[in-house]
Amino acid sequence: MERGERGGCVERVRAGFAERFGGAPEWIVRAPGRVNLIGEHTDYNDGFVLPMAIDRAVWIALRRRPDRRVIAHSLDMPHAAEFGLDWLEHGGPGWHEYLKGMAWAMQEAGHALQGWDGVLAGDVPVGAGLSSSAAIEMAAARAFCAVSGAAWAPAAMALLGQRAESRWVGVQCGIMDQMISAAGRAGHALLIDCRSLETELVPLPEGTAVLVLDTSTRRGLVDSAYNERRAQCDRAAHALGAAALRDVRMEELDGAGDAPGLPDAIAFRRARHVVGENLRTLEAAEAMRRGDARALGALMVASHESLRDDFEVSSAELNAMVACALRQAGCYGARMTGAGFGGCAVALAEAGSAAALAEGAAACYREATGLTASVYVCEASDGAGVVEGPG
Ligand code: GLA
Repeated sequence: MERGERGGCVERVRAGFAERFGGAPEWIVRAPGRVNLIGEHTDYNDGFVLPMAIDRAVWIALRRRPDRRVIAHSLDMPHAAEFGLDWLEHGGPGWHEYLKGMAWAMQEAGHALQGWDGVLAGDVPVGAGLSSSAAIEMAAARAFCAVSGAAWAPAAMALLGQRAESRWVGVQCGIMDQMISAAGRAGHALLIDCRSLETELVPLPEGTAVLVLDTSTRRGLVDSAYNERRAQCDRAAHALGAAALRDVRMEELDGAGDAPGLPDAIAFRRARHVVGENLRTLEAAEAMRRGDARALGALMVASHESLRDDFEVSSAELNAMVACALRQAGCYGARMTGAGFGGCAVALAEAGSAAALAEGAAACYREATGLTASVYVCEASDGAGVVEGPG
């Protein structure tokens, strides 16, 4: 979707609301998807990540109900969400489970919630690794906070979103996606310490653009492989006597050589990725603070190689896309982004070259794989917020 159309989501949910419920919504809330610049598969190891919120999001137009029911329709996806807050039950798979899960987690945490009528729309591609589910969760959290008069606390809501995802929906994700959707800031990436949840806004280097390169491949394998990687990391940390791989230093691993202490060579490679990626992420934040796009790009390339060779979560298509991006003029760096196995790569480009890079990378990718990619420039945008309505 082009920018003009995307700006149209506010109008779409407003019109959709009038059509479904009559009258005007009291609030329109929005929560973005994300792209991770660097720091992959580190969040569940208590490590560091450096994502940015993107200008693709989920919007909800809503109005408070006098009772404790939630009735929500999506303009993009089938099935309505309709549930009472006093009796939450699992339904079949679908976007509505994120709304229910969020209500469940917020109530468990002691929030007194109010019901609402709402209409959702969004332009975060589903299954592409740009966190459309975290965007729905944080938009729902924003909606519940608005109607219930609760203060918006980004980190607390991100934790509840992660809880909804793992305990209600059943996906064992880390904290990155919800944190950046809740707390992102325009023009910036966010360095997140996934242990303390301390954050630092880091400006994007001047004169650069961030491109998302969607391989158009989606792998069903992601969930089981993700859980397997998590378990391998936990086992490696345990074998090294550390609470998490965050606490392991590279010297300890180098010393391990063929991995005495670690069960096998796979555990060693997984650990080497996480320990190295944490160092790269901190270095990347430092490079951004001094506006050094070249250094940031080189770290992104090293991250990709480590994800491909040590963590083994890349794919032939992601590798082809990264190679194609790196071949274009004005490309500082590129890597796969998100959980892996399919979905998107991210590239850092010289701003003036971004359009040509997008075109060149897509053509190169088509030649290499026979597949059609969608490549676009992403603006770093604000995290979850109220677009219209009281506070
Ligand atoms: C998914 C998860 C995140 C994170 C990434 C990999 O996006 O939801 O928590 O673990 O994979 O970095």
